[in-house]
Amino acid sequence: MKLAVLREGRDAEKRVAATPETVKKLIALGFEVSVEAGAGANASMPDTAFADAGAKIEADRKTLLADADVIFSVQGLEGADAGLAKKGAAQLAVLNPFGEKDRMQAYADAGLMAFAMEFVPRITRAQSMDVLSSQSNLAGYKAVLDACAEYGRALPMMMTAAGTIAPARVMVMGAGVAGLQAIATAKRLGAVVSATDVRPAAKEQVESLGGKFVMVESEETKAAETSGGYAKEMSDDYKAKQAALIAETLAKQDIAITTALIPGRPAPLLITEDMVKSMKPGSVIVDLAVEAGGNCALSKPGEVVEVHGVKIVGHKNVPSRLAADASALFARNLVHFITPVVKEGALAFDFEDQIIKESLVTKDGAIVNERLKGEK
Ligand code: NAI
Repeated sequence: MKLAVLREGRDAEKRVAATPETVKKLIALGFEVSVEAGAGANASMPDTAFADAGAKIEADRKTLLADADVIFSVQGLEGADAGLAKKGAAQLAVLNPFGEKDRMQAYADAGLMAFAMEFVPRITRAQSMDVLSSQSNLAGYKAVLDACAEYGRALPMMMTAAGTIAPARVMVMGAGVAGLQAIATAKRLGAVVSATDVRPAAKEQVESLGGKFVMVESEETKAAETSGGYAKEMSDDYKAKQAALIAETLAKQDIAITTALIPGRPAPLLITEDMVKSMKPGSVIVDLAVEAGGNCALSKPGEVVEVHGVKIVGHKNVPSRLAADASALFARNLVHFITPVVKEGALAFDFEDQIIKESLVTKDGAIVNERLKGEK
C-alpha cells in the first residue's frame, strides 16, 4: 500500500495533512509513505523531519501520484491534477463538495474514490476523525487572539498603582465548537464573556465555561437543532427579535466574535451596519463566518477593515494561522479514518459502513454521495 502526502497549493493554506508522528503510525499500519517536497515547510515541519520518520521525499508530483493507493491532503487535489492519480486511488481531504461540483466531477472522471472529511458523520465512533471539530476548536482560540491583537486595550481587569483598568466585555455569537473555545479563551484572558446561540442546548455549555447566555427563547428554538446537532435557519419573526436583543447587548461590548453557521446555507447575518455604529470606538469584531458570507454585514474576506471606528477582522482559513497544531490534529484525524480500513496489510473499504458511506463523494466514475445527488 502506497500513500502520498501532497504539498498544498491553495492561497493562504499553510497546513499539511501528515506529520512525522503520523507518518510513523502510517508506516506501522503497513503503508509506504511519500511526502511531496516542501509539504510541511509552512507548518514548521521540514522535509528532513518527514524523512527521519521514514517517509520518502518526492519532488515530482507526477511520480508521487502515479502509484499512490491513498492520497492525503488538506484541501484536495485540484481538478486539473486528478488525472495524475491512479484509477481507484482513495483521496482524503476537505473537498468543499457543495461549492466545487466541477472538481468533484473531475475526480469522478479520473476514477478516484474521493472522501470529503467534512462529511464524516458526527457520531461517537467518528469523533476522532472529525476535522470540523479539530480545526474549529483552534479557530475559536485564534479568533480571540486576533481580536486582542487589534484591540488597543487589555482584556483582564488590572488594579495598578496608577489606577484600575476595567475588564473587556466579549460577546461570542454561535456557541458551537469554535464559539465554546472562544468563550473559554476569552475567559482565561480575564474578559467578561457573554454568548448567544439559537440552540437552547448551548446554554448549559456556555454557562459551564463561565459565560452569560443571552438568547431569544421561543417555541421555535425548541426545534432549532437538527438531529445532527446543527442549527436550522430561523423565521423572519425570530430573526427580528434576535436582532433587537443583539443590538441592545452589542452596544455594551468591546469585542464580538461571530461563529454562526448553518450547514449548506449562507451564514446568518447577525451584525448589521447600524449595530456596528452603536459599538464603542476601538471595539473589534472577528467574523469567523466571513468565508460563508459573513455574520457581520461589513466584514471582508481576507481583510481587516475599520468602519465607524470599529475594526472588523475577516481572516480567511483561520486554522491555517496555527498551522503546526492544526496540521497535527488534522493529520491524526486522517490516521483515525484510515486505520479501520486497513485489514491484514491491505485496503478494505466497507462501503456499507456509515462513516465511509456518508463521506464518500465519488467512486467508479460517478458522484455517489446522497447529499450531493439530492441537491438541485
Ligand atoms: P457550526 O459550525 O455549524 O455553527 C456554529 C454555531 O452557530 C452553532 O452552535 C449554531 O447553533 C450557531 N448558529 C447558527 N445560526 C445561528 C444564529 N442565527 N444565531 C446564533 N447562533 C447561530 O456548528 P458546530 O460548531 O459544528 O457544532 C454544531 C453542533 O454539533 C453542536 O451542537 C456541537 O456540540 C455538535 N458536535 C457534535 C459532535 C459529535 O457528536 N461528534 C462533534 C462536534 C460538534
